[in-house]
Amino acid sequence: MGKLTKLTVSLGDRSYPIYIGSDLLLDIPKYLSSTDIGKKLMILTNPLLKKLYGQALLNAFESQGGWAVQLLSLPLEEKNKDLRTVEMIYEQLAKNNFDRSSSILALGGGVIGDVAGYAAAAYLRGINFFQVPTTLLAQVDSSVGGKTGVNIPEGKNLVGAFYQPKAVFIDVSTLNTLPVRELRCGLAEVVKYGVIRDKPLFELLEKKAEDLYDSPPAFKEFELKDMIVRCCGIKAAIVSKDEKEKGVRAILNYGHTVGHALEKASKHAYTHGDAVSLGMMAAAYIAEEMRLITKETVNRQREVLKNFGLPVRLPRNISLKTILTYMRRDKKIKDGVVRFVLPVRLGNVKIFAKINNAQITTALKRLSGEKG
Ligand SMILES: NC(=O)c1ccc[n+]([C@@H]2O[C@H](COP(=O)([O-])OP(=O)(O)OC[C@H]3O[C@@H](n4cnc5c(N)ncnc54)[C@H](O)[C@@H]3O)[C@@H](O)[C@H]2O)c1
Repeated sequence: MGKLTKLTVSLGDRSYPIYIGSDLLLDIPKYLSSTDIGKKLMILTNPLLKKLYGQALLNAFESQGGWAVQLLSLPLEEKNKDLRTVEMIYEQLAKNNFDRSSSILALGGGVIGDVAGYAAAAYLRGINFFQVPTTLLAQVDSSVGGKTGVNIPEGKNLVGAFYQPKAVFIDVSTLNTLPVRELRCGLAEVVKYGVIRDKPLFELLEKKAEDLYDSPPAFKEFELKDMIVRCCGIKAAIVSKDEKEKGVRAILNYGHTVGHALEKASKHAYTHGDAVSLGMMAAAYIAEEMRLITKETVNRQREVLKNFGLPVRLPRNISLKTILTYMRRDKKIKDGVVRFVLPVRLGNVKIFAKINNAQITTALKRLSGEKG
């Protein structure tokens, strides 16, 4: 195991550690054996990740001894991140007599993390929950902060709970098997952290993106670890101040207002990362129109995203009207007003409540290349 970094999300008696390092997966049973949780645990994963990491983790629990571990492998994707899946998990937990001291461990990307967390939040009114994220997106963002939930036909993540994990184990080595398309999704969130809170991180990404020319993004493990530590550090600090998104935590939604609507409007043809990339461009255009940032800043954001292979232009076949309809259903809406997180300079954003339809439409038109 390489050098391990430990960060903490500080939430009083619900505080928890985030461990970040290489090859730490098989040390998890040892760590958990040293805590006072019960010895019954369910690993929730999917068939691919079972083969890549799940079976090995299960074996490690068995060699540690004293554990009753069940591995539940479901073909989990965004399209079945729903209540039916949660029900199937409950059936398994109940049939196997899981009690209040038992645990669920999410081994996978954001979909598995969100579903496992929501299942853990409500089973017997809450059992232990551990996050072992294996995508870059989940490692820099979704595994930290306790937002859990599922989709319903009317919208994405509309049913959920704030439910914090007991610990997050980020094994950077698992990214070695991640397809480039998924790596790109995570990079969109890393760019987000640069724009909202960390200008030096943004500049580092600019440098890296420049070096890439036309080749797919490739990072050394230590570079990935550095990015993950910085992003998790920002997220941990924000969540520690505002767990339930009453204030500052909303800045983490930069790019997500338009992004979530786009995911829905495109029937998930856009991945979360693609949609966030376009959403950040829409927000940057609104900020430029409001003279909060210069055209040069907008161009810098667009170049980084483009060089990482993320979309920065909306195809004309997605209707702006549909995007606006989905935006109005967004759960970040307060009293019917769509709120936008907008950059005021690189490394700093503010929340704006009074963005009107005309401003949003202008930005979306620029995004689809109709203007600007
Ligand atoms: N809770 C939060 O705070 C939060 C934040 C952001 C996003 N999300 C949610 O996260 C979800 C997206 O998560 P995601 O981008 O991780 O996608 P995902 O969970 O769908 O995973 C993407 C794909 O990568 C594969 N995969 C995962 N790890 C792998 C590995 N190491 N090697 C090879 N393949 C691997 C998976 O099998 C899957 O096919 C969305 O549902 C979104 O709403 C939640």
